[in-house]
Amino acid sequence: MKVAVIGTGYVGLVTGVVLAQLGNDVICVDKDQEKVEKLKQGIPPIYEPGIEEMLKQGLKDGFLKISNSIQEATEASEVVFIAVGTPPAEDGTPDLTAVRAVANEIAKHIKKYTVIVNKSTVPVGSGDMVENIILSHGVDSSLFDVVSNPEFLREGSAIHDTLHPDRIVIGAKRRDAAVRLVELYATLQAPMIVTDLNSAELIKYGANSFLAMKISFINAMSRVCELCSANVADVAAGIGSDKRIGNQFLNAGLGWGGSCFPKDVQGMVKVSEDLGYDFGLLKEVIQINEDQTHHFLGRLEKRLGGFAGKKIALMGLAFKANTDDIRDAKSLVIIGEVLAKGGSIVAYDMVAEENVRQQYPNIEYVSNVYELSKDADALIVVTEWNEFKQLDLERLGQGMKQKVLFDGRRIYDRAKAERAGFEFFTIGSV
Ligand SMILES: NC(=O)c1ccc[n+]([C@@H]2O[C@H](COP(=O)([O-])OP(=O)(O)OC[C@H]3O[C@@H](n4cnc5c(N)ncnc54)[C@H](O)[C@@H]3O)[C@@H](O)[C@H]2O)c1
Repeated sequence: MKVAVIGTGYVGLVTGVVLAQLGNDVICVDKDQEKVEKLKQGIPPIYEPGIEEMLKQGLKDGFLKISNSIQEATEASEVVFIAVGTPPAEDGTPDLTAVRAVANEIAKHIKKYTVIVNKSTVPVGSGDMVENIILSHGVDSSLFDVVSNPEFLREGSAIHDTLHPDRIVIGAKRRDAAVRLVELYATLQAPMIVTDLNSAELIKYGANSFLAMKISFINAMSRVCELCSANVADVAAGIGSDKRIGNQFLNAGLGWGGSCFPKDVQGMVKVSEDLGYDFGLLKEVIQINEDQTHHFLGRLEKRLGGFAGKKIALMGLAFKANTDDIRDAKSLVIIGEVLAKGGSIVAYDMVAEENVRQQYPNIEYVSNVYELSKDADALIVVTEWNEFKQLDLERLGQGMKQKVLFDGRRIYDRAKAERAGFEFFTIGSV
């Protein structure tokens, strides 16, 4: 099939290279000229395991083209994906400026029947909004359909997730339009849920809200565990062994962040409010998440007798392992609070450092995790990078002013850390 993907971020680029690998003729479009130039040379602008090889292969085989022209892409394609960002606006509503801009541009160039697919995460009603934009350009309704096809990939395993999705959700007003997408994805042999536009849009918000709720739930349990000397890991294992609950997303930690959960849970609250429903449960899910980081920082601050004049070493900056994404990362909350209270930061993250450096050019960065310890008053595990799990803890602590280790992701065993001479703090067990 001839496919265009507008927006070459984590979602658009991965979708584009995977569809090209499956033998479709794909044009990936971005408005960012620097990204376009890099992509043409086979250099991905994001960190994602496996993406570079697939990008290069797609360009070499000729199934993948990179462009900055929505006109070229729309005219050449039967199916046009919108995969641009939908960041939260001030009031928590998703900002649909980019979606609207792309829809307006696509509308100008529809000359034959085209399926326009909304892959960006958008509030319920956005499919209708895109349809109305296209119609407002005088395009005949027989020349296009708008389909919702929300994305569920996880950064860090995005290619695997796109090739082996748990399900593919397709929402459309007309069956024929949905069938086009069913055909496009047929080779993946994944379960497909074909539904109406509004339901598809709600599935995405509902899924992310539910996952965030699971994490907030176990984090709230971790607070109770701390108060009664229970161990949250055992509690989570016991709860999660129930097949009706499942053990995924039950790892207590610093809380959830990233480009999706914060904005989508907030978006779900706002969308519900606009429709006339107060989703109090999700407001609490957000509150627990914010409290979790501050509670953890409060414990560290208390142990150190304040942050003023203290050097805090951060192991990891990305919002989770295997990505360079720092949007709504807990590292940013920690850096902000420590600096505001007169402390200093030294940080190590081989993948996400560059992104944090743009916001915090003046904090210290080291290129080897063992260099973090020099004169540090405390180490915090912020990101659960695999690289951190098997470190020589004795060496890690060498040169610290105070051998204090706060494990914000529960990757270390207390006994092992204490044997290495650390005063050890973690989440959900004393
Ligand atoms: N990142 C994830 O893990 C993930 C997972 C599922 C769903 N989503 C959703 O998918 C959407 C995209 O997310 P992302 O993380 O890929 O975003 P991103 O910010 O990484 O990428 C968006 C891209 O769109 C481009 N763009 C913006 N306006 C454009 C325009 N007018 N014309 C052409 N290109 C334009 C930007 O330059 C950028 O490269 C969002 O709605 C997000 O919520 C993201």
